[in-house]
Amino acid sequence: MLAILGAIETEVADTRALLVDPVELRAGHLVVQRGRLHGQEVLLARCGVGKVNAALATAALHTLGASSLLFTGVAGGIAPGQRIGDLVVATDLVQHDVDVTALGRPPGQLLGEPGSWAADPDLTARLQVAVDACASQDGRGVHLGRIASGDQFVASAERAAAIHRGFGALCVEMEGAAVAQAATSLGMPFAVVRALSDTADHGAASDFPTFLRGSARLMADVVEHYLRAPTPRR
Ligand code: ADE
Repeated sequence: MLAILGAIETEVADTRALLVDPVELRAGHLVVQRGRLHGQEVLLARCGVGKVNAALATAALHTLGASSLLFTGVAGGIAPGQRIGDLVVATDLVQHDVDVTALGRPPGQLLGEPGSWAADPDLTARLQVAVDACASQDGRGVHLGRIASGDQFVASAERAAAIHRGFGALCVEMEGAAVAQAATSLGMPFAVVRALSDTADHGAASDFPTFLRGSARLMADVVEHYLRAPTPRR
């Protein structure tokens, strides 16, 4: 069963409205809806902001029977040429706020963990088909690459450029790499898609509330296309 996860209410509300015969479940603190989308049984939840909340929700959804996970939401773009409303599909995810460099680890790498966590290639290929279909409706940009997560709202062009340069990431957000770490530990395939609500620079604090709703609305569209899309052959 596919689990669909987002951080805040705005990021999951439109997808929840599409659920057929929703039933509310609880897993510890997490409120989860179970229902059907395009004839498929799915779980849907809002985990709250940040890496710990994201990891806890991933584990809870796994316990409730999720066999794969799709994380949807908004992000700040940090690569040149991106525009608010563009869509980013993760190939892999890093934690840009991790610093164990004093013990000889590269920036972003925890002891005993990889430098990044790869999204599942089959889910990601299917997600890309869905995202391309959504983007072709209105000509918005699509980017495939690394996503950087941290417990920080990035609102500085200098910090954004440093994360882009240092990690080769396309956007910043606050949950994806924690989902990636937890799902990898649990052996649960996952994919991550984000729509840009800001460009993580000095305008981000005002762009985020202005564009959150519009960018988040795209996620229900992506989920619908994802559930309709055939799994592409690799
Ligand atoms: N989510 C959306 N915009 C973000 C930003 N600028 N930094 C971190 N997370 C975000």
